[in-house]
Amino acid sequence: MKVQNFKYYMPVKIFFGEGRLEELGTLTKGLGEKALLVTGRKSMRKLGITDKVMKLLQESFVKVVLYDEVTPNPTVEVVNEGAKIAVKEGCDVIIGLGGGSALDSAKGIAVVASHGGSAWDYIGEGKVTEKTLPIVAIPTTAGTGSETTLVSVLTNKKNLRKDAISSPYIFPRVAIVDPNLMKSMPSELTADTGFDALAHAVEAYLSINANPFSDILAMKSISLINDSLVEATKNGEDLEARGNMALASSLAGMAIAQAGVVAGHGFGMSIGGILDTPHGRTVGILLPSVISYNLPEVSERISQLASCFNLPATGDSMNDAWKVIEAIKKMMKEMNFPTRLRDIGVGRKDIPKIVEDCMDRPDIANNPKKIDYKEAQKFLESIV
Ligand SMILES: [Fe+2]
Repeated sequence: MKVQNFKYYMPVKIFFGEGRLEELGTLTKGLGEKALLVTGRKSMRKLGITDKVMKLLQESFVKVVLYDEVTPNPTVEVVNEGAKIAVKEGCDVIIGLGGGSALDSAKGIAVVASHGGSAWDYIGEGKVTEKTLPIVAIPTTAGTGSETTLVSVLTNKKNLRKDAISSPYIFPRVAIVDPNLMKSMPSELTADTGFDALAHAVEAYLSINANPFSDILAMKSISLINDSLVEATKNGEDLEARGNMALASSLAGMAIAQAGVVAGHGFGMSIGGILDTPHGRTVGILLPSVISYNLPEVSERISQLASCFNLPATGDSMNDAWKVIEAIKKMMKEMNFPTRLRDIGVGRKDIPKIVEDCMDRPDIANNPKKIDYKEAQKFLESIV
């Protein structure tokens, strides 16, 4: 077999485990003197986590300004407004606290506050420099993996487009991954975000840019999700399950930071931009079909995922690959996870718009089996 050329770069310092949040003050102190704390308004405040984080920072003599305007599928406006406050207040470090929306908003704010303009100016690659303010990521859901990625996904309400700023300069300097913060996540959100992590791991594994490092990260992530996602949705207080999911999410983030994602996220980003659907639920619904679409090209590789689901390999790669798809469908059934796009409000009439929007995405180009306009249409029709 030919030697594969690849690169691996992951500069995030990860502090993982129960109670690691306590180290926030010390860790932030080394990065700046005044922090903008970026979070959502409701759940973090209700659970007392926002107050706790502010207290931890103040105890370490880090000044803190609260920006709690983050919404799901965060918009360019939310980011630009946060950046304005960061500049006005002279913040020199940005902390994201919450799910992917809060973390991605924090990354966008760190870029705009240091570069000027609007967040949308930086969509794509190569537009962000080392001027970017340092970022601290504190995930409170297990799915997005944003704490270990180099992307910030934002929504532009003017053209209904969801797209990503992608730059190594927006890797967080520090990620505090504390499963204690995830215990109160409701069952439905646990399932949605858990399926986002699973989609990241499987799509990174399928990507034409996968490499031996991303494969190891993806496979370990899939195993952990198979072991613990159903349990975490049924018993949120189960810290072992929460810990496994937190780890799976960060590992899957590391895998996509190297290999990217494929058609599930390509379609999912367009659906989310146009119809404002929950991200994890969207890519989760698409996942079994994305794998089966790619079977003719990469059945051998997919069959090797059987071990992640504790399935014996029979040596018949097509048969083993189908078993992988069945295992994922079984997990969906156990969690009452939706299986059709219509379950999240996508209708047949929306398909042309979605296809039009997604064909230029790198995620579509990363897919092992090529997808043209007609195939994309057929794919979505089969699952609507
Ligand atoms: Fe995702």
